[in-house]
Amino acid sequence: MLLIKLGGSVISNKANYREFRYAAVESIASNLPKRDLIIVHGGGSFGHILARKHRITEGYKPWKTEGFAKIGRDMMDLNLRILDILLENDIPAVSFPPHAYHVMGGEMNMRIFEESLSYELVPLTYGDIIFHEEKGFDICSGDYLMLQLARRFRPEKTIFLTDVDGIYDRPPSLDGATLIPVVDEETMLQTSLEVPDVTGGMEYKIGMMRKIAKYSEVYVLNGFHPERIKNLMEGKKFVGTVVK
Ligand SMILES: Nc1ncnc2c1ncn2[C@@H]1O[C@H](COP(=O)(O)OP(=O)(O)OP(=O)(O)O)[C@@H](O)[C@H]1O
Ligand SMILES: [Mg+2]
Repeated sequence: MLLIKLGGSVISNKANYREFRYAAVESIASNLPKRDLIIVHGGGSFGHILARKHRITEGYKPWKTEGFAKIGRDMMDLNLRILDILLENDIPAVSFPPHAYHVMGGEMNMRIFEESLSYELVPLTYGDIIFHEEKGFDICSGDYLMLQLARRFRPEKTIFLTDVDGIYDRPPSLDGATLIPVVDEETMLQTSLEVPDVTGGMEYKIGMMRKIAKYSEVYVLNGFHPERIKNLMEGKKFVGTVVK
């Protein structure tokens, strides 16, 4: 089985509110297997911009309700665009909005994923607004969902797609940034995000990836070169990072 995350940095322009990258998603979809697959996508500029403005990760406040609802709507919009492209590419995806099946702090409902897979459907879920047992409001990140799903389903391979070739020794926009082929406990990184990401930057992401590596092979690839997914799946050489 393959578990894959389409990062918000690939499927949207994170600097521009709700700018969708149709061509990128289309070419990723055409390179994915059609079965034995779970897909997660990030929020990109459909999620992070308003989530930061309304400080959703700091929890509920009465003034935040409109923003919370609006982000939920924008994420459904993004999800539907992706779902349409998957279906056009003969991937029988069924979408599950996290705010409708999970409350942060509680057990995650895995039954819907199990049922989907048993009917050879492809479960699709995403980073979303969510209720939280204590804080009231929160954001459920796509990276967190990746960990929960990897723990439950033990996919052979887990892939994170972003807008760069993999994990670098410093922010990829800086001079001299070098791609790290293998990230393990020894790797030291200098990271920062130029665009808003309310669920934390690279440190959080790499932490999740290293936990996932207990259950699955983990790779970070460039979503703008989706043929690399195929090369990886076929055991050929590929450009990217392996996380151990
Ligand atoms: N050391 C680093 N190595 C690789 N990428 C880095 C590094 N430091 C910062 N980045 C940035 O991290 C980004 C990927 O993480 P980010 O959370 O923005 O994307 P995402 O997870 O795809 O988005 P979303 O949270 O919406 O899914 C890349 O766009 C990259 O520019
Ligand atoms: Mg992120």
